[in-house]
Amino acid sequence: MKQLTGNELRKLFLDFFASKDHLIQPSSSLIPENDPTLLLIGAGMAPFKPFFTGKMKPPHPRITTSQKCVRTGDIENVGRTARHHTFFEMLGNFSFGDYFKKEAIAWAWEFLTEYLELPKDKLWITIYTNDDEAFDIWHNDIKVPADRIIRMEENFWEIGPGPCGPCSEIHIDLGEERGCGKPDCAVGCNCDRYLEIWNLVFTQFDRDEAGNYTPLAKKNIDTGAGLERIASVLQNKPSNFETDLLYPIIDYAAKVAGVTYGQSVKNDVSLKVIADHGRSMTIMIGDGVLPSNEGRGYVLRRILRRAVRHGRLMGIEKPFLTDIVDIAATIFAQAYPDITDKKDYIKKVIQLEEERFHTTLVQGIELLNKHVQELTHAGQTVLDGSMAFKLYDTFGFPWELTEEILSEHNMTLDKQGFDQAMAEQRERARAARQDSEESVALPDLSGLVTETLSCNPEAESAKVVLILKDGKVVKDAFDGDEVAVILDVTPFHAEGGGQVGDTGIIASALGKIEVNNTRKLPDGTIYHIGHISEGALKTGEVVQLSVDITRRRHIARNHTATHLLQAALKQVLGGHVNQAGSAVDNSRLRFDFTHFAPVTTEQLAEVEQIVNEVILGNTTLAILETTQAVAKEMGAMALFGEKYGERVRVVIVDGFSKELCGGTHVGSTAEIGLFKIVSEAGIGAGMRRIEAVTGYGAHEYLKLQNELIKEAASALKTRPEEIVTRIDTLNGRVRELEKEVGTLTTKLAKNEVQDLLVAANTINGVQVVVGQVVAADMENLRATGDMVRDRLQSGVVVLGAISGDKVNFVAMATADCVAQGIHAGKIIKETATVAGGGGGGRPDMAQAGGKQPEKLSEALKMAQQIIKSQIK
Ligand code: SER
Repeated sequence: MKQLTGNELRKLFLDFFASKDHLIQPSSSLIPENDPTLLLIGAGMAPFKPFFTGKMKPPHPRITTSQKCVRTGDIENVGRTARHHTFFEMLGNFSFGDYFKKEAIAWAWEFLTEYLELPKDKLWITIYTNDDEAFDIWHNDIKVPADRIIRMEENFWEIGPGPCGPCSEIHIDLGEERGCGKPDCAVGCNCDRYLEIWNLVFTQFDRDEAGNYTPLAKKNIDTGAGLERIASVLQNKPSNFETDLLYPIIDYAAKVAGVTYGQSVKNDVSLKVIADHGRSMTIMIGDGVLPSNEGRGYVLRRILRRAVRHGRLMGIEKPFLTDIVDIAATIFAQAYPDITDKKDYIKKVIQLEEERFHTTLVQGIELLNKHVQELTHAGQTVLDGSMAFKLYDTFGFPWELTEEILSEHNMTLDKQGFDQAMAEQRERARAARQDSEESVALPDLSGLVTETLSCNPEAESAKVVLILKDGKVVKDAFDGDEVAVILDVTPFHAEGGGQVGDTGIIASALGKIEVNNTRKLPDGTIYHIGHISEGALKTGEVVQLSVDITRRRHIARNHTATHLLQAALKQVLGGHVNQAGSAVDNSRLRFDFTHFAPVTTEQLAEVEQIVNEVILGNTTLAILETTQAVAKEMGAMALFGEKYGERVRVVIVDGFSKELCGGTHVGSTAEIGLFKIVSEAGIGAGMRRIEAVTGYGAHEYLKLQNELIKEAASALKTRPEEIVTRIDTLNGRVRELEKEVGTLTTKLAKNEVQDLLVAANTINGVQVVVGQVVAADMENLRATGDMVRDRLQSGVVVLGAISGDKVNFVAMATADCVAQGIHAGKIIKETATVAGGGGGGRPDMAQAGGKQPEKLSEALKMAQQIIKSQIK
């Protein structure tokens, strides 16, 4: 058996398949592109779904990758088995309608037995129940004995809707000593003896959302081999966690916790969880995921918090996760060098989230202790599931931790209730995800396969290659139709990198299409979305093209200004500023970036000043097409999580900014005219957003501001430059008047109290005061009521006051009256009902509101009557 490091194994695999005419492609980002059915990439084949279904043409019929994957379905098993992970790398070779079972099986066997030199007699094969073709190949061609080929019902592979099919797996027997020892232990057993190391999926079906399986026009191959699993076999380690791909993190965490790996099962589980989760969070953040309460962000948050908890289980009380990023960056240096570049950023995101969780962790523990006390008092032992869920949801408190603490008090949690609340939350998150994800169904573009398409900013005419209507390819379309059109050449710039798509007109011989957006499919094919406003459009006909150039110039100004803004922010705030998203259209620009405090007014003014200086310096822009490596060497800024091809475009404002960008830009900076920031705000932990305008937009903005000032001046009856002094004077006056009103109100209240006392009547020896007073709110009314009652010493008081469009009531009775049967709560209830309200309260004091102030005196009459009826 070969001894290989993880890096050597990855390379050997890719090179082997390259020698079988496969194109090596870099791993796609964990964030799926144009696939609303997936939250995160969880299999090597996931980024290639449209190639399997034939909707898009792959760059080569055979591809090989090592793909970053995250799966959380089995998160509870991570650390408890030798092979479960949230993050792992999947080695894969794919055939898109090219080779099939025979070659895929032969190459898998050749790689495993000849390149890795795995012992043939230890390899077991599983196949789908009725897959005789696979059986024949394994048995007759490869010469695997029939008793080591097992037919299994579950050998059918699918991941949500999309391409799927029967599969054949290769397992390795790691020896009896690794097994569970049960008499029926065999391939498929959950223990660690038989390790699945290769899965060959014969992708023949396309599954839709409803669960229908449609046979694909062409048969495909999708193979997956877990890098960490094979590494554990080659490195002769008892689990994936001892390989060079994970162990350095275990080593670090054990040192921080002051424990030794291999001495306690409990600590080992925690160390493994930390190693796995540490790699996941590093890669996820590197691909642009940020912690949040929904979607991918929630997956990240959960992983990170689990890691913190496992640290605490071993006694680590301080934040410790950021150092893992350095270790992970070294592990991934060869496969994902971008992690090294983004290290500081990834650490900052982790640091913030870890600190935040530590604060809530303490609060959560306090709350839980309170619940424990309450349960003890009530003589109960089970914590309500909804409370455990609240701890989880509000304080990010894993239920296992809740359960653990409860068990220290001989209590348990109602896990069923928790699961129920969790399921409801999941359902809400799922619904939210579906609402927010854009679900553009990928059209069937198989008709395109033979065409060559290009972009040319100068193109004035083109041939219509494909027309899509309602997601279907049509030969022609007519006025009133909404269509997507693909041309053989286009000057329209597609939406991308935050920039909106071009608009304009496509004119056919007999018709006109108003293009309202231009977009790009994941393989780069540009399509124009529009409305046929006149006549008809036919496939194959020649059309005239005109892009809305004025609009595009506005967009270009905003886009170049976005680059200048990023460079200026780095200058003023520091190198940690990184673009986290942007939106550039014809009216404004929006720039999201990482920064961990609000940007001060002075800093904003400085940024604005710098950008305007570069604009007025009138630097000519240079645009350079080069390789990624050269661009990196030049120090060009790249966007997180963005996939760039091997050839990249660098937009340069000499001496100021260099950025990888495919967007449209001005010729020289002075064309931007003017740059004005209109807002700055926080949009999440460590994330800020600036909105700004340029050119005509800036002019328009300033004009509006100016008009606003003029209007304000005229309303204040002063000149614009005097506005502030005038407002100061008015504010002073308002304060004086408020004071005066306060004094007068107290005086008035006293007088009213006096009047009320004079008007008091006595019923059967009980003093009764009922009347309307002036009181701005309930509190004032209560204060007046208190005064009257105190002066009466013995009696009943019911007061009403109008407050805006409502009416408030209070009723009070002194103790002796209550003893005689007076009930303020009952009085107020019926009184308020008359004025369209309700309320109630204690026998000695009650208050209520009503919605019909005009019924106030009627209500007070009712009060009189009730009091009378209560006095015996
Ligand atoms: N798609 C299959 C898997 O993930 C093989 O790549 O196992």
